[in-house]
Amino acid sequence: MSQIKIQVTALAKAFGANTVLKHVDLTVKAGEVVVILGPSGSGKTTLLRSLNFLEQPDSGTLEICGHRIEIKSGQRLSRANKQQISQLRQKTAMVFQSFNLFPHLTALENVIEGLISVKKVPKDEAITKGMSLLEKVGLREKADSYPARLSGGQKQRVAIARGLSMDPQVIFFDEPTSALDPELRDEVLTVMRNLANAGMTMLVVTHELRFAQEAADRVVFMEGGVVVKDSTTEAFFAQDSGERIQQFLRRY
Ligand SMILES: Nc1ncnc2c1ncn2[C@@H]1O[C@H](COP(=O)(O)OP(=O)(O)O)[C@@H](O)[C@H]1O
Ligand SMILES: [Mg+2]
Repeated sequence: MSQIKIQVTALAKAFGANTVLKHVDLTVKAGEVVVILGPSGSGKTTLLRSLNFLEQPDSGTLEICGHRIEIKSGQRLSRANKQQISQLRQKTAMVFQSFNLFPHLTALENVIEGLISVKKVPKDEAITKGMSLLEKVGLREKADSYPARLSGGQKQRVAIARGLSMDPQVIFFDEPTSALDPELRDEVLTVMRNLANAGMTMLVVTHELRFAQEAADRVVFMEGGVVVKDSTTEAFFAQDSGERIQQFLRRY
């Protein structure tokens, strides 16, 4: 059996009276590309953010890249939990809709910031690695440009290179192309496809159905805080995937 990178069991999260994740189970194996689809407000972002504890879940068990955290209702995180969280964060990367680049740093500086400040990699070594990552996303010539001088698609590619700099075992993407004009989306999706083809484990929230169809091994459909359907991509897009799925697909 292939290695499991993400195992989520009975994950729950509420914001006050608003229960956003009721009970989510999800498994992602090494090298899999899993796309999460679902209407706006269905908890997709909250789920991704819970996986690296940008949001703290209320209850459930997470096992991410070998780090296991069991959260019991009403209990605070233990010291051991926190240790696991800090370790799993170093093995995962997150790419956001809004890029989140540092405006006062160049593209290259954005990419190597974590290598230098977190991993304490010597600067010349970090620069060499940073340049090769910029090359990978097709932006070697933009190394010295500040984010304000880059297009949205270029900014998102820098953000992906930054994510890759820490050699993550898994990358989470939260609607990476939603803030982009349609003509800029393909350059980002191409980079993501290349990563997928290279065997990267990816969990991707997106509305790009074509990307899902072409690149995903599995599609997870969320609604109302639960996983409504978790199937192979082929089964998801098949005629008999269910009325709710067909209705959702017709809207795109
Ligand atoms: N930090 C927060 N505080 C309060 N409510 C939130 C917060 N983040 C998300 N929510 C609520 O959780 C629900 C699901 O949001 P979200 O996870 O962003 O859904 P999606 O990404 O599927 O659109 C929404 O009702 C949203 O208003
Ligand atoms: Mg969202």
